[in-house]
Amino acid sequence: MRAAAAIPLLLLMALAGLAARAATRAKMSRGRGSKWWGIAKAGEPNNLLPLAPGELYMDPAVHATLRRKQRRLVRDHPGVLLAVVKGANQAIGECQFQFRNRRWNCSTKNFFRGKNLFGKIVDRGCRETAFIYAITSAGVTHAIARACAEGSIQSCTCDYRHAGRVAGGRGGGGGGGKKPDWEWGGCSDNIEYGFKFSRDFVDTGERGRTLREKMNLHNNEAGRLHVREEMRKECKCHGMSGSCTVKTCWMRLPHFRVVGDNLKDRFDGASRVLVGNAGSPRGPGAGKGKGNRYNFQLQPYDAQHKPPGRKDLVYLDQSPNFCERNPRQGIQGTHGRECNETSLGLDGCDLMCCGRGHRSQEVMLVERCHCTFHWCCEVKCKTCHVRKTIHTCQ
Ligand SMILES: *[C@@H]1O[C@H](CO)[C@@H](O)[C@H](O)[C@H]1NC(C)=O
Ligand SMILES: *[C@@H]1O[C@H](CO)[C@@H](O)[C@H](O)[C@H]1NC(C)=O
Repeated sequence: MRAAAAIPLLLLMALAGLAARAATRAKMSRGRGSKWWGIAKAGEPNNLLPLAPGELYMDPAVHATLRRKQRRLVRDHPGVLLAVVKGANQAIGECQFQFRNRRWNCSTKNFFRGKNLFGKIVDRGCRETAFIYAITSAGVTHAIARACAEGSIQSCTCDYRHAGRVAGGRGGGGGGGKKPDWEWGGCSDNIEYGFKFSRDFVDTGERGRTLREKMNLHNNEAGRLHVREEMRKECKCHGMSGSCTVKTCWMRLPHFRVVGDNLKDRFDGASRVLVGNAGSPRGPGAGKGKGNRYNFQLQPYDAQHKPPGRKDLVYLDQSPNFCERNPRQGIQGTHGRECNETSLGLDGCDLMCCGRGHRSQEVMLVERCHCTFHWCCEVKCKTCHVRKTIHTCQ
């Protein structure tokens, strides 16, 4: 009697185990480090409140998006949380800007409890997914590097490594013994700290064992490299009435728009890599040292193509066409999207509406107009009603 009851129970447990394992496998195959994007919502009212100096209350739903190591990083480095929130939002805003005229427009969910902020499109390893990983990783790198320089993170400062180094840029004639015409000084954005923190925080959980985890690691790293690559020297003149007898220079982060533009170019030329290749070690000495998680070379899907470089975006699966709504795949479709009747590009009604046709509507818009400049310093405008035709997909 007892044995008879025990068998179905065991069977049930085994079945439940199988189901759980299948679910885990689906999650693992997308890599595990993507839920933190939900932290972008921490900036919304009541999700993040100061309790006492140096202490923050975090809404449990937001807290739940962080992995254990990420929570520890946030706890051990006061100030980084707000920078990460800022970086995530900067990345989302940039993604939506870059994709505003495309069928997939980088929209995010308002209610993401337990789910992915960008929705199920992330389950697929396509180009759009690659862009999301790269831009969010870049966003964190950028925001942390700047926050260090602004003094809002306790464990880092401006980057002073340049100070004390002999500056380049010999004066005029290039005579060997001349004094340099500028020197390092001031406060550089701390790209090294930002880069390293982004690796620690963003790449948590991407162990690089599965191909999908390698895809994520590669794209995260590409995002960071694009921020670092665009660092610029900025200078200021000192001396009597702008004579510039002394010039000091420091390294400044690029505007995030520049990073977004460059990553969008890489999106257009992204490399498809081969499913079933686990990546080979890159160069001699690979596999040694702490940074080796990043030291792999993915092979191109098409043997005729060059292997992807470190700043390229890589993907595994072809993108869906994003035409029709499909909640199971996290696709919104383009019904009701605004399109441009005269454009032949992706924002044109033909392509945006996938050949379904569009509706045209006259609307009245209120705009500022007839603006005049009044000395000094005021701009006065009238409001005008403007008739405009808008086109939306059927
Ligand atoms: C993206 O498109 C959807 C319709 O498909 C629309 O509802 C949404 O407002 C758009 N989001 C952004 C950020 O433009
Ligand atoms: C529509 O597309 C045309 C041609 O590409 C462009 O000149 C125009 O500015 C676009 N209009 C809008 C409202 O974006």
